[in-house]
Amino acid sequence: MLIDAYHRIHDYLRISLTDKCNLKCSYCDPVDSEIESSTQSQFMTVDEIDHLAGIFIGEGVKKIRLTGGEPLVRKDAKEIIRRLSKYKVELALSTNAILIDQFLDTLQSAGIRSINVSLDSLQKEKFAQITGRDYFDKVKSNIDLLLENRFHVKVNVVVIKNVNHEEILDFIRWTEDVPVHIRFIEFMPFSGNHWDHEKVFTHREILDLIQKEFSVQRIPTDPHDTAKPYYISGHRGTFAVISTMSEPFCQGCNRIRLTADGKLKNCLFSKGETDLLTALRKGEDVLPLIKYCIAVKNERLGGQFSSLAEAIPNADMIDNRSMIKIGG
Ligand code: 5AD
Repeated sequence: MLIDAYHRIHDYLRISLTDKCNLKCSYCDPVDSEIESSTQSQFMTVDEIDHLAGIFIGEGVKKIRLTGGEPLVRKDAKEIIRRLSKYKVELALSTNAILIDQFLDTLQSAGIRSINVSLDSLQKEKFAQITGRDYFDKVKSNIDLLLENRFHVKVNVVVIKNVNHEEILDFIRWTEDVPVHIRFIEFMPFSGNHWDHEKVFTHREILDLIQKEFSVQRIPTDPHDTAKPYYISGHRGTFAVISTMSEPFCQGCNRIRLTADGKLKNCLFSKGETDLLTALRKGEDVLPLIKYCIAVKNERLGGQFSSLAEAIPNADMIDNRSMIKIGG
């Protein structure tokens, strides 16, 4: 088992398949940054992903989520999904849904039932403004396709003050007749993403805004859940808030992340990473490296800051990869 110094068991692995994405979201892949996609040979191959996944599963990992970049832009994404589906593990996917219609059969045969879709606006023009691309109709119709095929669909909305916070009630109204599960995510700082604490719209603010119009009930959760879920009586869908900034949930953390270039991160905010792929390619045993990475995990937020109240003036002081390079 992968247990850290704070007795946290790590049984949930997120694997990024690529740092490439078919969207250019302002908060994730800013145009003025130096971000360059890793070259093909730096990425783990299908065999390497399969092999590493097997090692983690042998150490007690029960859930694997595929992320990116956008995981489905990888040419061999179908093969990776097929290969991982042989393991006794819950397989999940985070996607922007642009390519979902081409993957429906693969997802169904792999037994994937729950999909997280990123969608920050319900307005076509605003979507294009945030993502730099005109794919709103495609994303919306692919969400409908998932729902028609009875997938459990969670919609991730990164809430940024004065960018999309005024759409919160529109997302809630969507849950009235449609069984979508909205997750409002507090805006987090990453290298070069123009984060500013003024742009964070907190859990409290989100809830206050919704409660002005709806009567909201909390849904009980288990300690590993990062989302604080709620329901509104009579609505087919639900909503939740991921309060990374205002109320971090580090004490229940069970996650580890493998980047597309084969580096293990013990926290979304960790500075350090452990290079598994280089060791694997040299024929070395990677298990001691995995155990070391877990052993040095910080108690909170990668050890970089203790709370939003610390009032980080500018996210650029935070030492980390950008989100597109970590995997969401
Ligand atoms: N803050 C909060 N959420 C973010 N995501 C990407 N960048 C950020 C950020 N800076 C979200 C994506 C995706 C999820 C995996 O993480 O929109 O839905």
